[in-house]
Amino acid sequence: MTDSSFTALHDTALRGFASDNYSGVHPQVLAAMAAANDGHQVSYGEDVYTARLHEVMAEKFGRPVEVFPVFNGTGANVLALQSLLPRWGAVVCAATAHINCDENGAPERVGGMKLLAVPTPDGKLTPDLIDKEAWGFGDEHRAQPLAVSITQTTELGTCYTPEEVKAIADHAHSLGMKVHMDGARLANAAAHLGVPLRAFTSDAGVDVLSFGGTKNGLMFGEAVVALNPEATDGLIYLRKMNMQLASKMRFISAGFIALLEGDLWLQSAGHANAMATRLRAAVEGLDGVVPTQPTQSNGVFAILPEGVADRLREAFRFYDWNEAAREVRWMCSFDTTEADIDTFAEAIRAELSR
Ligand SMILES: Cc1ncc(COP(=O)(O)O)c(C=O)c1O
Repeated sequence: MTDSSFTALHDTALRGFASDNYSGVHPQVLAAMAAANDGHQVSYGEDVYTARLHEVMAEKFGRPVEVFPVFNGTGANVLALQSLLPRWGAVVCAATAHINCDENGAPERVGGMKLLAVPTPDGKLTPDLIDKEAWGFGDEHRAQPLAVSITQTTELGTCYTPEEVKAIADHAHSLGMKVHMDGARLANAAAHLGVPLRAFTSDAGVDVLSFGGTKNGLMFGEAVVALNPEATDGLIYLRKMNMQLASKMRFISAGFIALLEGDLWLQSAGHANAMATRLRAAVEGLDGVVPTQPTQSNGVFAILPEGVADRLREAFRFYDWNEAAREVRWMCSFDTTEADIDTFAEAIRAELSR
């Protein structure tokens, strides 16, 4: 059954800094998927891998949780938020949130909720910032702000401490609001903070989590995790309705198990973070490079002199973050090497001194 005649169509030595999605599948994840491949298993999540994933997640979060593996992060966010809200609900989020900027309006169009976006200096909400939109409760003219969504780590590479998450959750709950965490880079946060996952999620009062897998080495797949199942409603139906119910779910679950049963998730994220820290150290202080955010995960954000980014991009892929400000984003992955960083940093130095 195995056809080994397939050859890669791309240059397999090429790595860039555009996105932690540009990397491939972690070999241990691929091996787990292959091990789960033979024979038949019941589809749509009634398989032994998805059952085991529930146990693994319950261990991680220190309580029984409901786990809903899905295809992607946008889907996870939409259905997690839908599960928290009535039809008239609105979500307070940072203006930079992925749900607000990078999901093509899916929370509004597909999820049917209103987003109330608050500008922040660093991608992080605070109780005071939440209050800018958490008002008008009971006013029929205003979409009801009944949930808060925070991103960990944020889209700007910054990281909430467990105390900051708890302060947000306590505040939100005191207002009758529920708390969602977009954890597309949850593992990077755990690696940065050096605390167990539960310290800044379940123990801090997050109600529902979009648990990222893809950026941490899965082929594809995230999981909606109801940490406080009482706060959610209808996730099982919403997943299907949102076209996120995988028939061959065992492969998403097997990948997650490979990440989470041991410490692969943490090793990989810690490595990606360390590579970003190395890059930051290499460019810090270079004349012309102005870092714009603290490096607290696997990304470096910086402003470059006119033209430098485009010339660097002739050899290395990466994105502008804010084109008008000449701010770029450099992302590292589980497979970024020290040599990748050193070569790139040297190219930046050479370009700056041209
Ligand atoms: C903060 C954040 N949330 C969610 C996602 C997931 O998006 P996707 O729908 O592409 O899997 C991403 C991916 O870039 C992200 O950065």
